[in-house]
Amino acid sequence: MFSRKRAGLGVLGVAVLFASLTPAGGLAAGKEIYVDARASTERRVEDLLRRMTLEEKIGQMVQIRVGKLHGDCNNANGPLVESCLKAVLSDAHTGSILSGGGDAPVDNTPRAWAEMNNAIQRYALEHNRLKIPIIYGADGVHGHNNVISATMFPHQIGLGATWNPALQEQIGVSASKALRATGVFWNFAPVSDIARDTRWGRYYETYGEDPFLAGQLAAANVRGQQSHVDDTAQLTATAKHFAGYSAPENGHDRSPAQIPIRQLQDVVLPSFQAQFDAGVRTVMINSGSINGVPVHASKYMLQKQLRERMGFKGVAVSDWQDMKYLVDRHKVAPDYKTAIAMSVNAGVDMAMEPSNAAEFTSLLLANVRDGSVSRGRIDQAVRRVLKLKFDLGLFEKPYVDPAKADGAVVGADRALARQAAAEGTVLLKNDGVLPLPTSAKKIVVTGETADDVRRQLGGWTVEWQGVPDDSPLPPTATVLTGVREAVPGASVVHAASPAAAVAEAAGADAVVVVLGEKPGAEGPADTENPALTAEQQAWVDAVQATGRPVVVVLLTARPQVLGGAADANALLAGWLPGSEGGRAIADVLFGAVNPSGRLPVSWPRTLGDPTLTYDQLPGANTSASAKYDPLYPFGHGLSYTSFTTSGTSVSVDRSTGVVKFTVANTGGRAGTVVVPVHVRQPASPVLTPDQRLVGWARVELAAGQSKQVEVSFKLAQLALTVGDVDGDGRREVARGAYEAVVGAEKAAFTVR
Ligand code: GLC
Repeated sequence: MFSRKRAGLGVLGVAVLFASLTPAGGLAAGKEIYVDARASTERRVEDLLRRMTLEEKIGQMVQIRVGKLHGDCNNANGPLVESCLKAVLSDAHTGSILSGGGDAPVDNTPRAWAEMNNAIQRYALEHNRLKIPIIYGADGVHGHNNVISATMFPHQIGLGATWNPALQEQIGVSASKALRATGVFWNFAPVSDIARDTRWGRYYETYGEDPFLAGQLAAANVRGQQSHVDDTAQLTATAKHFAGYSAPENGHDRSPAQIPIRQLQDVVLPSFQAQFDAGVRTVMINSGSINGVPVHASKYMLQKQLRERMGFKGVAVSDWQDMKYLVDRHKVAPDYKTAIAMSVNAGVDMAMEPSNAAEFTSLLLANVRDGSVSRGRIDQAVRRVLKLKFDLGLFEKPYVDPAKADGAVVGADRALARQAAAEGTVLLKNDGVLPLPTSAKKIVVTGETADDVRRQLGGWTVEWQGVPDDSPLPPTATVLTGVREAVPGASVVHAASPAAAVAEAAGADAVVVVLGEKPGAEGPADTENPALTAEQQAWVDAVQATGRPVVVVLLTARPQVLGGAADANALLAGWLPGSEGGRAIADVLFGAVNPSGRLPVSWPRTLGDPTLTYDQLPGANTSASAKYDPLYPFGHGLSYTSFTTSGTSVSVDRSTGVVKFTVANTGGRAGTVVVPVHVRQPASPVLTPDQRLVGWARVELAAGQSKQVEVSFKLAQLALTVGDVDGDGRREVARGAYEAVVGAEKAAFTVR
């Protein structure tokens, strides 16, 4: 379909057929540079940009959900509809389509995804003058989790407990292969926000409370997602949600946050910086507000911090409908046109609108025409989007092979998922009952989550709120399945109630109580009572009263306050362990895997501590409860063997510190140990936490083996935002005395 200009020029005859046309109908000599893969991305971007009309440029700044293209074109599912494809992709020149959580083809198979995305891409390319490919986005936050048959990995909170960057990179590669096989080249993952409040519904989507740990794991995941190259275009990851999203003042999702700039720069932003340094190509903006300003309307956040101070150069995409929410939720804009101008001018390059392409594009066009948004700003945003598409290879490889999709997704990487779930399992407490004997004769498995796939997989699985009640279940091994497979010779009884568990406990080698949470995401998963329910605690009490060994397995989205359940003989935190989670938990229960997980978060003792983190600042109140007093501290985790560290020393030069120490396995079996390295400042220009994580070692040792280990860190990691109460300047490393802390040992050093 040609634009009017091209149809009019068509009569000039053959001479113009081989020349390309600029929007004004002028002639440019030679082949279009932008279609030449040998040309540099920069030249291709500039060549294409100058050929684009303003309408075509604005179309690259909007992302529309696939529900507007199929079924009733209003999010009821069904086949793609020509008139809707035309309205969105041709008339509005939309440059990106997404699946919100749960938006899938009717037949939710990898092949159907690939065929759907190919059809959308084909329509876009055949009905746009310049044949700019669309980019399709989805939330692959724990595998290709919208697809029922995909391997669901543990959610990030459990991956944080692995302290294993190499594993995150492998998981990134796995997600990349699965998503790209279905034509998804933009993954809205990983979450870079840090866990700061157990009431928050997205706590489980984070890698934990510490900015350095979360940043290193997220950066490794990004490298995995963005590095893998095969016969399709490449994938871009997303750092989300920039920034300050995870510390709403009342614990509720998308509630206002009050964050002093020192806290913003020293605690909130570093996990994003790590991903920017790892080359993440896109960032998604926080739906919430900071200090009274919605981040989607904040030049301070989206220019001064994101671009100038942190150096991010990729695409900034809004979160779901967040430009429109400036009007009807944040109430900082009188109308949608003004809101679009505010947000685009603040620095959002693409709007996840995600419903009305015509409205968005017409309002942004009006903003440009009346000067509310400059053409220069439009070009800046579109350059970033075009660069992304060229860098991913979408112009050369816009399609995928549907015949390969099922093979690339179904049953993929299940061993990796099992390894990840096992490594993320934290042995919180063990009075000796674990590991359970593989010679066991009878094991009772009870608790509401013992055999519940939906609770085990959690939110963002098939649908954003988790697997719907009317949906088939993703292939999943529950804890009941895992235990049955681990001890095939034993009688493994599933007791579906406390009474049944008590009745069956007699003569059992152990009772395993599996407790979890209702699956959910975002606001619906908020809680004002981040604790095990009374029923769950009563369930544990009842089986404990039988006197049989009781192991409580927590498949929770957050470190729930345990109450009486903490008295069990053993406690395992399995988090939301994914498709292979039940097998992984059984691997740990029966000792096939020696647990190495370490808490990426603090485990609160009481409900009064939803925001308890190990890096809380010192106060003048010396009471025990005012201090850092968790049930289990950040970094806690037991093993079936024992380890010691000794001989800690540290050396520093102008930019780097190197901490050396010896780790020994003093127990009777091989194991892997995580050794965190913290730094303490006896005195500092502004308050600093008692200690800050600067690095760690993850060491595998045979029984009796010891190893000298080195952990390096950048002195820049010690930087603080200096200044008075209103400090918001650049961060500086204070000169003076410091101590490296490894276990109970300290080694002093000085920064000069
Ligand atoms: C949601 C989430 C975001 C997700 C997006 C698309 O509202 O905030 O994490 O990537 O919408 O599903």
